[in-house]
Amino acid sequence: MKKKRAEFSNFFGFVLVSAGSSIGLGNIWRFPYLTGVSGGGIFVLIYAITMFTIGVSILLVEFIIGRHGRANAVKSYEKFNSKFKYLGYLNVFTSFIILSFYSVVGGFTIYYFINSLTGNIVNTDINYSEFFNNFVTDPYSIIFCTFLFLFFTIFIVIQGINKGIERYSRIMMSIMFILIIILMFRSLTLENAIEGIKWYLKPNFSMINKTTILAALGQVFFTLSVGLSTMLTYSSYLSKKEYLPKAAAMVAFLDFFISIISGFIIFPAVFSFGLNPASGVNLVFITLPEVFSAMPVGIIFSILFFLFLTFASITSSISMMEVAITYFTETFNINRRRISLFYGLAVFLLSIPAALSFNVLGELKVLGLNIFDLFEYFCANISLPLGGLMCAILVGWFSNKKQIYNLYSNEGVYKADLFIFWYNLVKYVVPPIIILIWINSIFI
Ligand code: TRP
Repeated sequence: MKKKRAEFSNFFGFVLVSAGSSIGLGNIWRFPYLTGVSGGGIFVLIYAITMFTIGVSILLVEFIIGRHGRANAVKSYEKFNSKFKYLGYLNVFTSFIILSFYSVVGGFTIYYFINSLTGNIVNTDINYSEFFNNFVTDPYSIIFCTFLFLFFTIFIVIQGINKGIERYSRIMMSIMFILIIILMFRSLTLENAIEGIKWYLKPNFSMINKTTILAALGQVFFTLSVGLSTMLTYSSYLSKKEYLPKAAAMVAFLDFFISIISGFIIFPAVFSFGLNPASGVNLVFITLPEVFSAMPVGIIFSILFFLFLTFASITSSISMMEVAITYFTETFNINRRRISLFYGLAVFLLSIPAALSFNVLGELKVLGLNIFDLFEYFCANISLPLGGLMCAILVGWFSNKKQIYNLYSNEGVYKADLFIFWYNLVKYVVPPIIILIWINSIFI
């Protein structure tokens, strides 16, 4: 007899788990660092617009495809249209790459957590740029921390949808919200905070260029976890009773809110301590310790914060991994534990070159980027928007409008105007815009 497929316990559980997937390093590490290198307010503005047009609509598209398929990514696409199953393969493949570099940064958070415990993070004698560099230039520690991060990810995924993913996400997400708000207040009351806020929120239109726009698009996909079938996979485990547009709006709002607050923590600190906002991937890891060391009982906050940042990253990494695990278990009937270990090992091997690009492989450049940057660039700016584009085309052009409406709404909820608005956006606006942004960044 076929085993019943797992289901999330309720609507709230589903929203929390999806928010758990979307809120992670993308919000707290990647968003501030991209804002930093892309000129501040202007990036935030383009990001916000993209988020609430393209981002949220694609999120809903993925939810809908998952609801229809109630199966892994490949099968769900196939049920709509058999040609689209290749999109599922692309997603499973990308999940390897994305998880490999994500785990490297996840490893940073673990390292910072350990160093919070020992008090190093609030030691005012330390120069935090040097501290970060000393860590990443040592191949052994960076690989070891990456390994630990993957270990925790696998540990949760092995336990399955309800006992693993849902249970851990619930606990970890709630506390994270509270902490991040406390930190924001500390940062906003630092000396010179206002300079940082101005830089963060005031758009400087002369900074607008093709890289900024592509980066904002990539960041929206990355932070919302769309374009990889993560959200599709999750919604395939949700009961058909629940109303999807509401879930999509809630997840997008929560995710956006956490990113914006992260900026309110980082940028006042950058300006208050005379740091450079454009310092790149290390930005958060240099500014946050400065904030902690300027706080009374900063040590406690640093311990809690890095613990929960690690958790937030894990609730995201498990969702990336689940795309592949759901696919492999359903397609080849392999036991979840075995495939999780095997897949985890493969990701670990791939993460080694990404980790080594901070040290011994630093000089190895492909298309002008080191391996870590290349993985990140390929996933965020090409593969994820491509996934989103194809989903939009599938729903807008290769399926029946009535069928989509039935999946969109559920009994009793009838908001036809909103449906038509969203449907037209997905059909006529999202695909050309994604294509234009690409063309613009390559040719102009
Ligand atoms: N959104 C997560 C973050 O912001 C990362 C993530 C999880 C992700 N699943 C994904 C990114 C799928 C892209 C695709 O940290």
